[in-house]
Amino acid sequence: MAITLNVNGTSRQVDVDPETPLLWVLRDDLRLTGTKYGCGVAQCGACTVHLDGAPTRSCSIPVSAATGAITTIEGADGPEAKAVQNAWVALDVPQCGYCQSGQIMSAVSLLKDNKTPTDDDIDAAMNGNLCRCATYMRIRAAIHQAAKSLSTKEMAA
Ligand code: FES
Ligand code: FES
Repeated sequence: MAITLNVNGTSRQVDVDPETPLLWVLRDDLRLTGTKYGCGVAQCGACTVHLDGAPTRSCSIPVSAATGAITTIEGADGPEAKAVQNAWVALDVPQCGYCQSGQIMSAVSLLKDNKTPTDDDIDAAMNGNLCRCATYMRIRAAIHQAAKSLSTKEMAA
């Protein structure tokens, strides 16, 4: 069945079973392989993308239900995404890297909603994103750094 998706600001048409998980379509049909498969059952966060701005586990949503604007790590843009990416590099957050696109998508979403997250806010927002390399402390520090850089830019504007 032909399905039209809005991915990273572009209209894309795929011919797939409507029940196919969005993650499969992103990776196998659209070749957007930055989004990772971890558990397949909405428990690890590796497959996190934004659907109309909300962090969404793409392994657990049928492609036919992904009717809004989908943003993957390849299309992550805007001040929050840039601040997160810069902080991730500055603090050398990733270890193996496998979970990190999901971590970044959740962090960007958090900072869009909350410009001054506390440790508790960060822990709550990032709770569903697992990291087998246990980079949690660096992730938390990087989110604080990204929030600080966003507020510095806002004050300078
Ligand atoms: S692969 Fe989707 S949450 Fe683990
Ligand atoms: S950096 Fe290896 S799983 Fe998170």
